Amino acid sequence: MLDKTPSDGPDAAQRPEADTVGPYAVPITLRVNGMTHTLSITPETTLAQALREQLDLTGTKIACDRGACSACTVWLDGAPVCSCMVLAIDVGAREVTTIEGLAAGEALHPVQAAFIEHDAIQCGFCTPGLIMSCVALLRRNPRPGEDEVRTAISGHLCRCGTYPHVLSAVLAAARAAES
Ligand code: FES
Ligand code: FES
Repeated sequence: MLDKTPSDGPDAAQRPEADTVGPYAVPITLRVNGMTHTLSITPETTLAQALREQLDLTGTKIACDRGACSACTVWLDGAPVCSCMVLAIDVGAREVTTIEGLAAGEALHPVQAAFIEHDAIQCGFCTPGLIMSCVALLRRNPRPGEDEVRTAISGHLCRCGTYPHVLSAVLAAARAAES
């Protein structure tokens, strides 16, 4: 018989009972783009589904729904995440930012404007997610080189092949912010 090691933790009978939620809908609070929302969701609801289906924030796209394409990228406390891979119930007090949260009223974010200027959009399905990752990059590194932009967008699949234009747009937005 194997000896028990400290890393095994307490016996099952001694472990505190985990909180169980569901399978029915439960209330949660989400902070999205500076506003607080109370939703009623079933526990398997992803953040992407909650944003699109409950809050009508359809700028966030769901393409693969399995963490492979980054179309659903939003920020959690400023860091890009695939919202199809995050359960809404796990977001907690973290601030969610979506593509709808980037523009200031009618004024597009400079990276959004640069995407238009540099023709970095075709069907547009990947575009909101790409922009969220590109703006996050410029927030942590206002003057990225080409390789840094390529790395920042490396998880994003664009079936229309806009990558060279995305690269031009981000570098131009960075240059414009400096001048
Ligand atoms: S839809 Fe989330 S990664 Fe593809
Ligand atoms: S613009 Fe069509 S998938 Fe990227």
